[in-house]
Amino acid sequence: MRVVILISGRGSNMQALLEAEYGGVVEFCCVISNKADAAGLQVAAAHGVATEVLEHRAFADRASFDAALAQRIDAYQPDVVVLAGFMRVLTADFVRHYAHRLINVHPALLPAFSGLDTHARALAAGVKLHGCTVHFVTPEVDAGPIIAQAAVPVLADDTPDSLAARVLRQEHRIFPMVLRWLAQGWVNGNGRVNSVPMMPDAALVSPPLMD
Ligand code: GAR
Repeated sequence: MRVVILISGRGSNMQALLEAEYGGVVEFCCVISNKADAAGLQVAAAHGVATEVLEHRAFADRASFDAALAQRIDAYQPDVVVLAGFMRVLTADFVRHYAHRLINVHPALLPAFSGLDTHARALAAGVKLHGCTVHFVTPEVDAGPIIAQAAVPVLADDTPDSLAARVLRQEHRIFPMVLRWLAQGWVNGNGRVNSVPMMPDAALVSPPLMD
């Protein structure tokens, strides 16, 4: 399975993807950033993966940037395109071009807290569980079929940063897991995962139950 990763910054999710084990069935073709100073570019290069920069600021509008981006991506003939902290809203044309092969990680339990500043908003809402979601991308932002989610407790003394760090650790677990499932052909277009045992009574309770 040929994979192109898009990033905008730090690239810790990209790093988790590059360092995971896939039994030899995943090939990372290129990491593309829309920002030249994205720290993740160095990390990708250190892992021996080709990198490219396509700065959105060089384009007159969203459509022309997305068209150029798709051209760069398609040169690698990827089976899957991964948004790993790629902080741009994509045009419907771009998204449709990659239907069922474009995935994103979002730092909240969608459909709650789509958009930005998810951790501060979760704290403000007083939720006791927060988390992350890996989903297929569709034209409506953060609304595509959900493939996997991980939940973490929200602690009484959490700040947006402490909560973000707890969520990020789970992003780094479920994102490679989903890529592995895609490579194995276990995920259908609605996000349903076959061949994985379900645990109907598994629950993360927060605050925890006391016996
Ligand atoms: C991650 O927390 C990711 O979920 C989030 O940006 C961060 C990127 O970190 N993505 C979004 O908010 C997308 N709307 P990283 O560059 O270290 O992977």
